[in-house]
Amino acid sequence: MTWSRLLSLPPGAWWVAAALTATIGLALAWPARQEAPAQPPYVDGASEQDLRQLVHQPGIVQQGRRLFADNCTLCHGVHGEGLLGPNLRDDYWIGSSDMTSILTCIADGRPSRGMLAWRNSMSRLQLRALAAFVASLAGSEDGSGKHPEGTRQPITWK
Ligand code: HEC
Repeated sequence: MTWSRLLSLPPGAWWVAAALTATIGLALAWPARQEAPAQPPYVDGASEQDLRQLVHQPGIVQQGRRLFADNCTLCHGVHGEGLLGPNLRDDYWIGSSDMTSILTCIADGRPSRGMLAWRNSMSRLQLRALAAFVASLAGSEDGSGKHPEGTRQPITWK
């Protein structure tokens, strides 16, 4: 079809052609825009008892500290004192304070509240290190951090 013929189309035909092009374009683009299906809950495989031991391994806690500084402080504060996200130093938890829950929370995130699922960008060992660091912080609130959120569940096993 030559330009001269295209240009001689009646005005209504342009509309139809534009609408058709837009519809086909959207139909092609839409599937790619759909969110990936929800992943099943993260399972580390280690027992609660084994995960608790990580808090007593300084090298792992130190690795968690570095990962936390690089990825988490925007929402949880430089010292875990809470900002957009909750205070991680106090005895109050929105979820639960056992290691399995802390680890699962970090791995799966809380997408509805804006926290990403870190399992997509961290290894199993990195997730464990983060959980160990978070647990190491718990109970260290000195009164300067964000107000408590959730229920009081002190970590008594450290
Ligand atoms: C974009 C902001 C944001 C970032 C970044 C973020 N979080 Fe969160 N986090 C939140 C919010 C908001 C909640 C509370 C979710 C809720 O209300 O259920 C939360 C909850 C948590 C909890 C559970 C606290 C509780 O009281 O149950 C842990 C543990 C946690 N985050 C650890 C981390 C770690 C570790 C990182 C970095 C790898 C991280 N978060 C990065 C926003 C964030």
